[in-house]
Amino acid sequence: MTLKDQIDRNNLPSHVAVIMDGNGRWARQKGKHRIFGHKSGVTSVREVTEAAAELGLRYLTLYAFSTENWNRPKEEIEALMSLLVTSLSGETKTLMENNIRLMAIGDLQNLPGKVYKKLQASIDKTADNTGTRLVLAISYSSRWEIADAAKKIAAAAVKGDIKVDDINTEMLSEYLNSGKIPDPDFLIRTSGEYRVSNFLLWQIAYSELYFTDTLWPDFRKDDFFKAILDYQHRERRFGKISEQLGSEK
Ligand code: FPP
Repeated sequence: MTLKDQIDRNNLPSHVAVIMDGNGRWARQKGKHRIFGHKSGVTSVREVTEAAAELGLRYLTLYAFSTENWNRPKEEIEALMSLLVTSLSGETKTLMENNIRLMAIGDLQNLPGKVYKKLQASIDKTADNTGTRLVLAISYSSRWEIADAAKKIAAAAVKGDIKVDDINTEMLSEYLNSGKIPDPDFLIRTSGEYRVSNFLLWQIAYSELYFTDTLWPDFRKDDFFKAILDYQHRERRFGKISEQLGSEK
């Protein structure tokens, strides 16, 4: 039986988030420039997106570029931005064919005009697709997102639209840039690093975490299916005890 066939379709995570890490090391291991690793990582993006669509997952979020990545060498930033533009140009047709809706989270105003326009065009083009939602986190950091939500809540309170006493966890979730997207059930990080690197810190409060040594450019559909199978063997308690979960079934 293939790994995919072993997956229980009645126990799928609704939202899987991925920290795609290890492009640079993968390239260096091959004696190539880091940018070659990023280019090769696009194949893994395609594989994982297809795998998520094949399983019928509702949301797949990929950490494509962090706020901190703006501090990388100019040459690498430009290469990543141009890779985004070429990928969006090349893959929007595939998104349409697979009924995938593209979304984005992050401080998108910070993106070069050309990247922003291309991204918005793909988002608009796929807006009516009803299958998997592919969410790209670009120029994203969780602390930025939380601070931005705090700013918006404070502004609404000053304006009198909300009362300070009404501020609670649900409201903060709604004011986040990712407000309309449910929290991830499952977070995957590649490349053997055990960190969450400022990614969806608020939203992963109860997510299951999965770390693999595989470097991102080597990550294929079967690696994704293997991770989903691992998820299905976990018991999610959300702070409760096992016996309580049993009684709810
Ligand atoms: C981390 O590897 C990866 C990134 C910073 C960028 C990920 C981007 C892509 C896979 C390509 C474009 C994306 C899309 C959505 C088309 P790293 O550079 O931190 O690797 P290292 O830890 O080995 O140095």
